[in-house]
Amino acid sequence: MKIAAAGKQLRETLSQQNGKPGARVLVPTMGALHAGHLALMKKARDVAGPEGTVIASIFVNPIQFDRPGDLAAYPRPLEADLAACRAAGVDVVFTPEASTMYFPDRSVTVTETLLSKGLCGATRPGHFDGVCTVVLKLFLLTGCDAAVFGEKDVQQLAVIRRMVRDLDVPVEIIGHPTIREPDGLAMSSRNIRLSPEQRADAPKIQQALQAARRSGSTDAKEILRIASEGLEASALDRIDYLSLVDAETLQPIDQVERPAVLAVAVFYGDVRLIDHVTW
Ligand code: PAJ
Repeated sequence: MKIAAAGKQLRETLSQQNGKPGARVLVPTMGALHAGHLALMKKARDVAGPEGTVIASIFVNPIQFDRPGDLAAYPRPLEADLAACRAAGVDVVFTPEASTMYFPDRSVTVTETLLSKGLCGATRPGHFDGVCTVVLKLFLLTGCDAAVFGEKDVQQLAVIRRMVRDLDVPVEIIGHPTIREPDGLAMSSRNIRLSPEQRADAPKIQQALQAARRSGSTDAKEILRIASEGLEASALDRIDYLSLVDAETLQPIDQVERPAVLAVAVFYGDVRLIDHVTW
């Protein structure tokens, strides 16, 4: 496995792979890798084939954080992450520094103006601009043919699909199902910041969403009422949003008539967790 810490080094490393058969497949991450990330890397290995190249990026992207405290507290266990990438069959790891990714006077940003405005976008101003900008840069720096993203970040996946569609970005976007802890909590790099009591309570988020779906109702008010009831019975501190949206446009709906998503973001203390269920 090769490690490249700057764009120039990455280009040199990848140029050695030029002419090799098989696809070049990217898994962008912010590190603190868990089984969810590793499943994406295994998927990338399958897509690339034994002859192809799997690239993982590890970069805590400062321009997508809306709360300085969240950026400062973001875990960065680089050595363990590199070992995990090696074990998952990654060929090249890209670990840039913020100072090499962004010019101090950078003035170009990628903005998606519809899907990114609700849900997480409503309370995290600029977040998806930061995500789109870094993801497009990573696509260009790596020259990847395909990239794997988790369905856990359902809005991020939809926004990236839209960016690729609207800007004719020649990268195939592959979604991967959410990997969960045995008790149903979606795996997240932020879970380790929960206290033992919060961690024990957190599976109630998914349970509340599941209860709403299992009710069989297609009425948004009823679905949201059941989910709220479940969330209120948990020990979380604050609901950031709870919303039923169309799966493609992410716009709120009154009735489930097409694929839909019930999405939630909650706070335990200052730890923000997201989850969703789909119809
Ligand atoms: P990060 O939160 O590190 O996630 C990297 C990738 O792993 C994303 O595609 C995310 O959806 C996926 N992922 C995280 N937890 C998962 C789980 N439990 N099951 C399946 N997939 C999971 O998302 C980001 O980083 C950043 O926004 C990034 C795309 C790297 C841009 O900076």
